[in-house]
Amino acid sequence: MAGIRGLNKVPVPFRPMRALGIQTPENLMDKFVIRGGNRLVGNIRVSGAKNAALPAMAAAILTDEPVILENIPDVRDIQTERNLLVSMGAEVELGYGRAHHRTTLCCRSLVNPEAAYELVKTMRASTLVLGPLVARMGRARVSLPGGCAIGARPIDLHIKGLEQLGASIIQEHGYIEAAAERLRGGHIIFDKITVTGTEDLMMAAALAEGETVMENCAREPEVSDLAALLIKMGADIEGAGASTIRIRGVEKLHGARHRIIPDRIEAGTFVIAGALTGGDLTLINCNPEHLGALLRKLEECGVTVQAGLDSVRITNGHRLRAADVTTEEFPGFPTDMQAQYMALATQAEGTSVITENIFENRFMHAQELVRMGANIRIEGRRAIVRGHTPLGGAAVQCSDLRASASLVIGALVAEGETILDRVYHIDRGYERIEEKLRSVGAQIRRMGEILPKRAALPAGVA
Ligand code: UD1
Repeated sequence: MAGIRGLNKVPVPFRPMRALGIQTPENLMDKFVIRGGNRLVGNIRVSGAKNAALPAMAAAILTDEPVILENIPDVRDIQTERNLLVSMGAEVELGYGRAHHRTTLCCRSLVNPEAAYELVKTMRASTLVLGPLVARMGRARVSLPGGCAIGARPIDLHIKGLEQLGASIIQEHGYIEAAAERLRGGHIIFDKITVTGTEDLMMAAALAEGETVMENCAREPEVSDLAALLIKMGADIEGAGASTIRIRGVEKLHGARHRIIPDRIEAGTFVIAGALTGGDLTLINCNPEHLGALLRKLEECGVTVQAGLDSVRITNGHRLRAADVTTEEFPGFPTDMQAQYMALATQAEGTSVITENIFENRFMHAQELVRMGANIRIEGRRAIVRGHTPLGGAAVQCSDLRASASLVIGALVAEGETILDRVYHIDRGYERIEEKLRSVGAQIRRMGEILPKRAALPAGVA
């Protein structure tokens, strides 16, 4: 593939900040005003998966030819990754109009194999460039991510795996410096299942000399989606989606076109919001197979689920029943749905025990839900939620991406008005969530947002 016309190197402003008719200072726009009580009824189109798009964009580093990615969600983490790639010398072209969700990346002239702290601290998935940079450029300098709201998130398994592939690694001044003239195949056994670790090393191994076998790999659909892209680029990979992946390294990868899978966490968030509000909601452009554990759990709670080929309809006319949940790696119940499920559990009949097995500090939303009237007790990795407690609107704060989604869901059934602060956490991973929810009947707006007439809130809503 030859070069592409019109590639630009200019970071593009995050769209919702300029394209939604927002006319007030940014700090005001960082709040949602939500009035609870409406059933959600109608259809929502699910966006592309952020967690599949991020590794796919990093994969563009592996070739000097353009990689065309479709169904890229318009969310802040994607903008951060684009800026990171641009800072390294990548050329980026964004689609407009009907091609709005297409991004073309060309890494023919990478000059700076570095991910600086400023970027990595806002988005830990920036470490996904580590493996591809060493594989393609022979060196990488990537900031250590440090702690974050949901607990320690080390990257020791990425580092150990790269060493296994022959890279020499130095850690100094908060950075990892990795170097290898050419990586060579190796045998990697992950001590713990890691999603981005599996992806990072799969990309590195794709250009290594010889065969790599990786065991105890993550089986998330996002790993399989990345493998599908890499195979289109010429990689030789078998077993992605299973716990052992075999990669025969090739000399060179080429450009490709790939459509990112739908976002199962966005879909799941809306499914829970629909069920909790006693609604009738259809998610279109999603993959019900990726939502299996959540949909089964909702059925246990009494929700009616109808899964189509690429859609899911949920209806709920009765009181929800409590059901315990334990987060696990795919195909288990996802940790990224735990916070949203907790909002649902506050309204179910009975007591639910929610056990968080993946991250050690992922209950930040609990205290905010309690401020809204929920009855939740935290005991180590378990949250005990006594259901059927009425929620009331309050001023609450987002602490991380999925915690924020849980507060939006709680606010949709709370009596009165909730002001949700720091919604930049939501903008990291949900594409215009307020517009999507409004389109199915929710009363939600970004503070300071001038709503188009047809979307105006009913009388009496501030
Ligand atoms: C990815 C997802 C995130 C999701 C998480 C778990 C992306 C961009 N992010 O994050 O939304 O919540 O999977 O499904 O895809 N660990 C180590 N050492 C490592 C790496 C991980 O000890 O080197 C531990 C982590 O601290 C955690 C567990 O392994 O306890 C799983 O983390 P991991 O799967 O790596 O999460 P991410 O890939 O960062």
